[in-house]
Amino acid sequence: MKPKLLIARAIFPEIVEKLSNYFELEENQDDIIFSETELVARLQGKFGMLCTSSARVNTSLLSQVPSLKVVSTIAVGYDNFDLAACTKFGVMATNAPDVLNETTADFAWALMMATARRVTEAEHWLRAGHWEKWSYNAFLGADVHGTTLGILGMGRIGRAIARRARGFDMRVIYHNRSRLDPSAESEAGGAIYVDKETLLRDSDHLIVVVPYSAAAHHLIGEAELAQMKSSATLVNIARGGIVDDAALIRALQEKRIAAAGLDVFENEPRFNPGFLTLSNVVLTPHIASASQATRLAMANKAVDNLVAALEGRVPPNLLNNDVLQKTSIE
Ligand code: GLV
Repeated sequence: MKPKLLIARAIFPEIVEKLSNYFELEENQDDIIFSETELVARLQGKFGMLCTSSARVNTSLLSQVPSLKVVSTIAVGYDNFDLAACTKFGVMATNAPDVLNETTADFAWALMMATARRVTEAEHWLRAGHWEKWSYNAFLGADVHGTTLGILGMGRIGRAIARRARGFDMRVIYHNRSRLDPSAESEAGGAIYVDKETLLRDSDHLIVVVPYSAAAHHLIGEAELAQMKSSATLVNIARGGIVDDAALIRALQEKRIAAAGLDVFENEPRFNPGFLTLSNVVLTPHIASASQATRLAMANKAVDNLVAALEGRVPPNLLNNDVLQKTSIE
């Protein structure tokens, strides 16, 4: 008999098909977001779960699902997993990194450029039938080329964003927990390491790309926004909660910064409605990795992690290596 797997969210049919070769499946192609109680009920007797960031895996859940051995998220971010709790309960936790780096970097650029050049604001105006004549000062925005790009968080995605800046003759500055070595800095568009204050003060366009953790909560808040140029744009493609959205809305209303491009929000999808009252924001629904090829590649990675766990191999993207002491995997 095949072990049982819960596919907690809707996913590509070919992924379901592939998983059915290894597991007895409980699917959710209606894409219902299960509450913890519903997840617990569905996870009874399951070996594993394929999920996304919407499934919170913590002590409360894990203490009620003793059969569970692996949770595999189709995301690079895994702030929904309590890794210490996973290890305590002998559950392997895996994510789906790397295959999304370039696609996500493309999208960070798309947001930065749309924000700086007021693309969506201009389109809304055009669609509303306001376009009667060309004017020299319609939708004047900020240049991207030749300016200073600031990157907060210089992991794999941050570096992919930085590399793209070469073609735009930009100076790239970054702040990160640790400084990159000189060859990595040179590959990353010649990025220059600076402290957080300098990053905030000198960036013309600032992109936030740090993973969410309790320490990163409101890393950009009132005080940080106050240090930015009034002409600056801010892009967040990382996670809701890293930017204090209420503080950002106030800064945008009062034009203390010029504009923001946001793919992630606090409490998404029920984000702060204050954003909808602003014209100087570009808002997208958490789609930075959403190209057809990349989302499929991420799902395939998540499958590879599940199959490895099933076959007694170390999953390629295991997040809690210390769990191996509690499993029969070598
Ligand atoms: C998307 O937000 C991801 O973490 O992959």
